[in-house]
This record gives sequence, structure tokens and C-alpha cells, in this order.
Amino acid sequence: MKKMIAILLLLSLMASISVGLAEEGGKSLIIYFDYSENINTEGLDVDAISSASIAEGPGIRDRSNLLVMVDLLRERTGADVYPLHIQEVYASWFDEMAGKALEDKENDVQFTFAEDLPDLSDVDTIYFGSAIWWYGMPQPVINFFQRADLSGKQLLYFSINRGSRNYEVLEMLAELQPNVNVVAETSISAMQDNESAAEEFTGWLDSLR
Ligand SMILES: Cc1cc2nc3c(=O)[nH]c(=O)nc-3n(C[C@H](O)[C@H](O)[C@H](O)COP(=O)(O)O)c2cc1C
Repeated sequence: MKKMIAILLLLSLMASISVGLAEEGGKSLIIYFDYSENINTEGLDVDAISSASIAEGPGIRDRSNLLVMVDLLRERTGADVYPLHIQEVYASWFDEMAGKALEDKENDVQFTFAEDLPDLSDVDTIYFGSAIWWYGMPQPVINFFQRADLSGKQLLYFSINRGSRNYEVLEMLAELQPNVNVVAETSISAMQDNESAAEEFTGWLDSLR
């Protein structure tokens, strides 16, 4: 109950805050985890993976809407981009990986990142992006927040979903990073084409000014 009150207070506080994008001062970094970049492509008869869509649905997407959001953020802020890559990549088919992704969360599995985590010592603002998996963060993202220290930094969380929003993400952040300042969050529907996703996300970015 206490947690729920804390999240509601956080959400109402965020609604009243106007955040300038970090291009105006201080160093910022965009960090994200995208399924399409963390799948096992062995045996797939394709030259490249351009779409992360896991199922049919409204909105034809040429590429993951998360990557569209990352590109827009990079253009707006000029920030460096740090994609998270795991060594234990997921299966490329939803039916095969969905159960495992849930078990990973239930068992608090510890993934190995393919690269060292970024040095955050001189970073003031972090834009963090992921999809919503099983109502919250994918386990590799949980691992990132378990291992990194974001104390005193500003965090803006953006995600894509097929119905759930960031409620559980915020709850998890409050637990894992109690000293981070979550200044804004948004979650947009994955079930739209890249163009309308870009439009929706741009609207959110504009609202931060
Ligand atoms: C393992 C797994 C679990 C998911 N769980 C949820 C969920 O709980 N809530 C939700 O809104 N979307 C869920 N999704 C959908 C993802 O958010 C969606 O795949 C992502 O936003 C990318 O969209 P796309 O696959 O349509 O490109 C899940 C996807 C995967 C792969």
C-alpha cells in the first residue's frame, strides 16, 4: 500500500514538473534494450532483422518503435546512445521466448552483458528505453538497474507496450534505484506504424520543454 501511495505521489509530482531536454546543459546518455538486437539469429534464413514485431496487429512497423524513439531522442538531445546487449540472447520466436522471459523475471536470472556497462560518472541525465515485458521491465533491464548506480541523476523512462504501461517499471525503479530522480516517463503503444509512433513520441518530447 505504501509503495502504491509513493508511486501515485511520484506520478502527480512528475505531471507538475516541466523538464528541459538535457541538450540545454549537463551530459546526457540514451540507454535502451531492444528485443530485435538481442535475439538468436542462428538458423534464420534472413540477411538482417529489421522488425521486432512479435505478432500480427494493427500498425505495420518497418522497425521496432523503440528504435524510432531512440533516433528521435538522439536527434533532439545530441546525446550518445548506449544499446544494451546480452550474451544469452533470446529465441527469435515469441512462442519460444515468452515463457522463458517470464521465468527469467521470476527467478531473477542474471544476464551477462556483452559490453561493459557505460561509465555514468559524468552523466547527469539518462533516457532509458525498453519494451514492457510481463507488465514491467525485461529481466536484462532489471539487471542493468540492479548493477548501475544512478544516485542523484535525472531519469526519463520511455517504453513501448501492447496494453500495459510503466506502473510496475516505476515501482521497480523505486526499489532498485531509490536515489534516482525520475523526472518523466511515457509508454506508447507498439501497435502503430513507425510514423504515428514518432508523432506520439514527439508530442511527449515537446511537452517536456
Ligand atoms: C516476453 C514478452 C512479454 C510481454 N509482456 C507484455 C506485457 O505484459 N504488457 C504489454 O503491454 N506488452 C507486453 N509485451 C509486448 C511488448 O511490449 C511488445 O512486444 C513491444 O512493445 C514491441 O512491440 P511489437 O512486438 O509490436 O513490435 C510483451 C512482449 C514480450 C516479448
